[in-house]
Amino acid sequence: MYRSAIIPLVFALLFTSIKCAQVNHGSLDEAKVYDYVIVGGGVAGLVLAARLSESENKTVVLLEAGPDGGLNKDINTPAFAGVLQGSQFSWNFTSTPQPTLNGAVPSLAQGHCLGGGSAINVMAYCRGASSVFDEWAEISGNDGLRWENLLTEFEQSSVLEIPPDLPYTIIANKSVYGQGPVMVSYETNLTNFDPTFANTFKNDPQYPAKLVDLTDGTGIGQQVGGPHSIRLSNGTRSYALPAYGYQMAGRNNAQIMHGVWASKINFDNKTAVSVTYTDKADNSTHTVKGKEIIISAGALNTPKLLMLSGVGPKDHLTDLGIPIVQDSPQIGSNLYDHHSAVVMVQVPEDIFTLVQQSNASVFDPILQEYQANGTGPLGRPGGSSFATERIPDDILKSFGVNVTFHTNLPKDRPHVLYQYATGAFQPNPNNLNVVSTFVALIQPEASGYMRLNSTDYRANPLIYSNYFGSAADMAIEVYAYNRLRSLMQSDAMKPVIVSEVYPGKNVTTEAELKTSLYNSARSFHHPAGTVSLGKALDPDFRLKGLNGIRVIDSSAIPVMPTCHLQASVYALAEHAAKLIKDQL
Ligand SMILES: Cc1cc2nc3c(=O)[nH]c(=O)nc-3n(C[C@H](O)[C@H](O)[C@H](O)COP(=O)(O)OP(=O)(O)OC[C@H]3O[C@@H](n4cnc5c(N)ncnc54)[C@H](O)[C@@H]3O)c2cc1C
Ligand SMILES: *[C@@H]1O[C@H](CO)[C@@H](O)[C@H](O)[C@H]1NC(C)=O
Ligand SMILES: *[C@@H]1O[C@H](CO)[C@@H](O)[C@H](O)[C@H]1NC(C)=O
Ligand SMILES: *[C@@H]1O[C@H](CO)[C@@H](O)[C@H](O)[C@H]1NC(C)=O
Ligand SMILES: *[C@@H]1O[C@H](CO)[C@@H](O)[C@H](O)[C@H]1NC(C)=O
Ligand SMILES: *[C@@H]1O[C@H](CO)[C@@H](O)[C@H](O)[C@H]1NC(C)=O
Ligand SMILES: *[C@@H]1O[C@H](CO)[C@@H](O)[C@H](O)[C@H]1NC(C)=O
Ligand SMILES: *[C@@H]1O[C@H](CO)[C@@H](O)[C@H](O)[C@H]1NC(C)=O
Ligand SMILES: *[C@@H]1O[C@H](CO)[C@@H](O)[C@H](O)[C@H]1NC(C)=O
Ligand SMILES: *[C@@H]1O[C@H](CO)[C@@H](O)[C@H](O)[C@H]1NC(C)=O
Ligand SMILES: *[C@@H]1O[C@H](CO)[C@@H](O)[C@H](O)[C@H]1NC(C)=O
Ligand SMILES: *[C@@H]1O[C@H](CO)[C@@H](O)[C@H](O)[C@H]1NC(C)=O
Ligand SMILES: *[C@@H]1O[C@H](CO)[C@@H](O)[C@H](O)[C@H]1NC(C)=O
Repeated sequence: MYRSAIIPLVFALLFTSIKCAQVNHGSLDEAKVYDYVIVGGGVAGLVLAARLSESENKTVVLLEAGPDGGLNKDINTPAFAGVLQGSQFSWNFTSTPQPTLNGAVPSLAQGHCLGGGSAINVMAYCRGASSVFDEWAEISGNDGLRWENLLTEFEQSSVLEIPPDLPYTIIANKSVYGQGPVMVSYETNLTNFDPTFANTFKNDPQYPAKLVDLTDGTGIGQQVGGPHSIRLSNGTRSYALPAYGYQMAGRNNAQIMHGVWASKINFDNKTAVSVTYTDKADNSTHTVKGKEIIISAGALNTPKLLMLSGVGPKDHLTDLGIPIVQDSPQIGSNLYDHHSAVVMVQVPEDIFTLVQQSNASVFDPILQEYQANGTGPLGRPGGSSFATERIPDDILKSFGVNVTFHTNLPKDRPHVLYQYATGAFQPNPNNLNVVSTFVALIQPEASGYMRLNSTDYRANPLIYSNYFGSAADMAIEVYAYNRLRSLMQSDAMKPVIVSEVYPGKNVTTEAELKTSLYNSARSFHHPAGTVSLGKALDPDFRLKGLNGIRVIDSSAIPVMPTCHLQASVYALAEHAAKLIKDQL
């Protein structure tokens, strides 16, 4: 059954997905006790709902605050991903003014629709260093999270699609994919910018990047042409809604609601028993009962909902007058993310960038090709190749700060990731044809935290992201930012660069460069760790001290993977679904 709170969108869905034939309107049965009530229809929530409702006699309810964007062209067309942040499909969160960034307030927009972050992300599909997952297992006490074990779930959740006659070279370890629902593909062709960018890292005399597969447990090296979570056949985004959500359309035991915003989890003493939510269609309040409540609202909304419900740091909740259900000091803390700084360059007109979308003579043929064949620049997110790099110990030690955390990381871990997007990440008043290159710190030492700003469930949380928050984190980012800039200024890049637009030629001193770093600081939108395994959660994802409630999403991640996050969340949720099924 595919139930919805927003009727017009249901009709839309009826016409797209043949599987959604049985659509029922109406609300949940408030007298009934469902087996599982899942809050959040993002990556983890949809995986869980799909897997748990495979048991025909288990009833599953999923509550998603945002709309159904299943037919939205901006979601489905990879090149349009950039417009989704700040749209109806995003939570428009920002950091509080960051002392480490001289007061900058980077956006932390999160997905707000069926599919969550996977509906608005940039579709990079990566898994990164295997030692990260081994560390998850050690910290959590859950051996299933070890790389060699979790690989089963990485495989189950994905399928690899390599275009025939690929006009460039890749290293693809096909053994690490299965026949899962998330379609992972390499690009049919590269932009003119891409090979030059990739070769600049590959041929760098100092630290040449090696072509590898960063989805097979390898942590350090270079990927060319993707891969991305994109369906090869028609160049559309492959994300949690079509991949997992549509599987449930014919199931009478699964009810997927959207436009319903959970505001509180209700407890009977220490046992979670129900969830209160507002139906946005008519602003009515409802309560749904569950034998088990699973929170999958993402790493910022999950701790927010727990705190609103009396589960979190006692002092903070007391200050706000929220009655304490469970004092969990770790909830909201251990906030990690991947964070970057930008070098924006002007490129020749024969490199298609999103700036050219407004030029009909360039855009019309591209649109035609995409509509006819699903190929061309609209079928890719606008940035393909990227490289991860471990900075040698001697260089780290030369920074004159305490780099012990970074030198002690397992040897398969990179410190930074270099990538680009064919669009403007900085102001571009003259509408120059630009590409934004950027470098992110991917194994940060410093963590941040989030807190409530208000007891009103509609208020945005306060996010103290603390990017580049230790002396070593900052020194590494400054080093890598300098390195990125000089690589972009090198002879190797000359064929594809007209000039540097940001920071700009007038930026020369170290202090000016740091200011440029602060002013371009950008989140990868990978928040994680706020309700972490080993800290707030037991090995089975249960909240410590409470019954009938688990947290399964990016909040549970105890240590950041070394590249983009979505693949790890799909696998984590697949693992948790099995664990729950086995326990019943
Ligand atoms: C802009 C952006 C770009 C990204 N780029 C990439 C990338 O290129 N590659 C990559 O691998 N990863 C990327 N990511 C990260 C990846 O998408 C996330 O890590 C992943 O989606 C996290 O999954 P999750 O299940 O933890 O949370 P989410 O997918 O965020 O799902 C949480 C869901 O819960 C819903 N929700 C929240 N609160 C409530 C409530 N109170 N009641 C009901 N529903 C609620 C939300 O609306 C959302 O749908 C990106 C993310 C963003 C936002
Ligand atoms: C649920 O279904 C399974 C098999 O489909 C069956 O073995 C089990 O007895 C059922 N449980 C209940 C409570 O009906
Ligand atoms: C984010 O901003 C957009 C544009 O103003 C708005 O439509 C959307 O509702 C906002 N998201 C949320 C969750 O409030
Ligand atoms: C691949 O892209 C390049 C650069 O845009 C273009 O010149 C070439 O014709 C494309 N090749 C194919 C097979 O589409
Ligand atoms: C492919 O990945 C698996 C899993 O990490 C690994 O064991 C194997 O050695 C890899 N194969 C190659 C050829 O690198
Ligand atoms: C892409 O292909 C899938 C599978 O055939 C289909 O369900 C979907 O509607 C297509 N999307 C578009 C925009 O063509
Ligand atoms: C909740 O706690 C109260 C007081 O300790 C007790 O009387 C009551 O039985 C408990 N309820 C449940 C459902 O455990
Ligand atoms: C929705 O309901 C809440 C509480 O019942 C109320 O405070 C709020 O003003 C209502 N909003 C709208 C748009 O009606
Ligand atoms: C549009 O693109 C064409 C082809 O590159 C170019 O000749 C023309 O000047 C562009 N127009 C504008 C307004 O930028
Ligand atoms: C679609 O692909 C076919 C076969 O490669 C090609 O002949 C045709 O020109 C393409 N259509 C467009 C609009 O690019
Ligand atoms: C340096 O950092 C490490 C790891 O974070 C820490 O254990 C150590 O105490 C620090 N050393 C000094 C001298 O501060
Ligand atoms: C927190 O609340 C205050 C007072 O209502 C408001 O001025 C501020 O903008 C809020 N902060 C955020 C991040 O929403
Ligand atoms: C460099 O020039 C730009 C554009 O004129 C200006 O915004 C920026 O403040 C200048 N930076 C420095 C360090 O002078």
